[in-house]
Amino acid sequence: MYLSASNIKKMDRVKRLNIINSVSGIKPGNLIGTKDKYNKTNLAIISSVVHLGSDPPYLGFILRPDHNVRRHTHENILENGVYTINHITSNFIEQAHYTSAKYEKNISEFEKCGFTEEYCKDFSAPFVKESKLKIGLIHEESVPIKSSNTLMIIGRILHLIIPDTAVSEEGYIDLDVADSVGISGLNAYYTLNRMGLFPYARVDKTPNFNDKKTKLTP
Ligand SMILES: Cc1cc2nc3c(=O)[nH]c(=O)nc-3n(C[C@H](O)[C@H](O)[C@H](O)COP(=O)(O)O)c2cc1C
Repeated sequence: MYLSASNIKKMDRVKRLNIINSVSGIKPGNLIGTKDKYNKTNLAIISSVVHLGSDPPYLGFILRPDHNVRRHTHENILENGVYTINHITSNFIEQAHYTSAKYEKNISEFEKCGFTEEYCKDFSAPFVKESKLKIGLIHEESVPIKSSNTLMIIGRILHLIIPDTAVSEEGYIDLDVADSVGISGLNAYYTLNRMGLFPYARVDKTPNFNDKKTKLTP
């Protein structure tokens, strides 16, 4: 299949949405936990979390606009200043998926989708108890992206909860051991298997890929 810019533009809206949402490949599966000023919690599935820096430790995610409904996640982050990012694991992909339904503000997806709120000392945003790898963040800024009319929500990591068995001596996290899942598009969930682990790539340490033994098969 080949699609030009004009083919893409003429496509059925839902088909275009599905294709374009999938072409970037596997994205991380996360649940964003927030709370409003009246202590009402909210949970939303998000597949756009990205690493923005390690020192200070920053993560971002893209919030898409919806002109018809309020975006409770962003409202709560602005109100409370803190939020959590919780990896989705294979045993609760279906519950996680349904947090994307447009529930009323007074309904918590924690309760509706069968998740348990968990808190750590002096940090008011709710973590997902069922998740194995969880991150607590303080909101730094919401950056408008003009071209796509989206917002990049940037937060600094204050708390990290990782299973001991998933972290190596050097600090590598094995997502396979953490049972974290990947997402394609807006409805397909994948398990992750670590296929390889390579040292930091240096010009003088690069294997000779033209050597017969390591040559890639066409
Ligand atoms: C697999 C999947 C991934 C999603 N990723 C995002 C995302 O990265 N950004 C976003 O704004 N919405 C994303 N959504 C949609 C939100 O989950 C949905 O709009 C949700 O209702 C937002 O919750 P809120 O209105 O309580 O903030 C995704 C939905 C699904 C099913």
